[in-house]
Amino acid sequence: MFKNTDKEKLNIPQHIAIILDGNGRWAKKRHMPRTYGHQRGVENIKTIAIAASELGVKALSVYAFSTENWSRPKDEVDFLMKLPGEFEKKFKDDFKKYDIKVMFSGRKTHLSSQNLEILERITNNTKDRKGLVLNICFDYGSQTEITEAVKIIAEKVKSNEISPSDITAQMVEDNLYTSELPKLDLLIRPSGEVRLSNFLLWQAAYAELYFCKVYWPAFSKKDLEAAIIDFNKRDRRFGGLKKR
Ligand code: IPE
Ligand code: IPE
Ligand code: MG
Repeated sequence: MFKNTDKEKLNIPQHIAIILDGNGRWAKKRHMPRTYGHQRGVENIKTIAIAASELGVKALSVYAFSTENWSRPKDEVDFLMKLPGEFEKKFKDDFKKYDIKVMFSGRKTHLSSQNLEILERITNNTKDRKGLVLNICFDYGSQTEITEAVKIIAEKVKSNEISPSDITAQMVEDNLYTSELPKLDLLIRPSGEVRLSNFLLWQAAYAELYFCKVYWPAFSKKDLEAAIIDFNKRDRRFGGLKKR
């Protein structure tokens, strides 16, 4: 999709987020179980993370399991909970090659100790890498994230470290899981749904939103490039006036 010269001319978003949606419908269309879609969906994280890293994106946040997804049938949840292990096994070498650093955003209270160990091991093994930061949002919910930040700040008020009038938006932001990442530029939702489903609500304040119909397992580098080309047509005003 990109021509050779495009990369120099295009403004590449520093931080892109993707809602990995449509795995079930993708599988259903192929008369396969939903879990097959999840399997292919996880594999596609590798393809798109490498593509993003080659394009010069600094951070890629992917929504892999929401705090609401626990309400799905037990079989499906059990399958999804095996994915961090799969992820570790299958992606280790490629991510090393591309110097990709992996971090996880989400609750640490509901996951099994086995999964917590995997998440910690991946985080530790990749923490010094200098390439793309792949932020995997797993048992993530934006409302929980903001609530947790508010609790941390409330504790500081309680211990007289700060007073309520000291609280700023920056302070809330500093206590989100994403505090180390660049500001979110572009949020992509494949699969045809046009909603955020509790993903990065705070961070999306001035992000450009891009919706496309393709299901996540079929989302390709070309689709990512199409989103970036569209992003380049947007006039980001941040509440100010159009540049002349
Ligand atoms: C996204 O695909 C993956 C997760 C939410 C874990 P879905 O499982 O939501 O697939 P659809 O939306 O039902 O097709
Ligand atoms: C959002 O997709 C969560 C993830 C992709 C992890 P869902 O399929 O759970 O969202 P809804 O139910 O369509 O809003
Ligand atoms: Mg869905």
